[in-house]
Amino acid sequence: MRVGVLNGVNLDVLGRRDPELYGGLNIRQLESRIFEWAVELEVNVQCRQTNSEGEYVQWCHEALDWADGLILNPGAWTHYSYAIRDAVELFEVPLVEVHLSNIEEREEWRRKSVIADLAARRVIGKGPEGYREALAYLAGSQ
Ligand code: DQA
Repeated sequence: MRVGVLNGVNLDVLGRRDPELYGGLNIRQLESRIFEWAVELEVNVQCRQTNSEGEYVQWCHEALDWADGLILNPGAWTHYSYAIRDAVELFEVPLVEVHLSNIEEREEWRRKSVIADLAARRVIGKGPEGYREALAYLAGSQ
């Protein structure tokens, strides 16, 4: 199984952002954990992060050709990017929406996710472990 993990805007500065909300790992450490979990679960992963919305959309398009499942954390784009929503709508494979922090219990504007209804599963507020849960879900869905 091939899983694409697409992290969006400002997730490159994890580790500098509030660790109470986002956990203490930086993006490289987070991706290393994801690769370790992927080995345990016998899943192939490709992890990417970008601060460019267009690049995120482009990666979604590319993933249409190879991914059997997706883990998406678009960061703040989650709350308003209809461009990303339109790209995500194209997926016919299961996708899991992940957020490190509990967006349901933060500011009002974070409670809305424009991709929520497209996700087979949402994992919210579990920190880096949320990515393990998402991978395990996708591994079990095959
Ligand atoms: C986030 C939550 C978003 O509201 C925020 O803008 C982020 C990270 C999360 O993983 O908790 O950048 O997606």
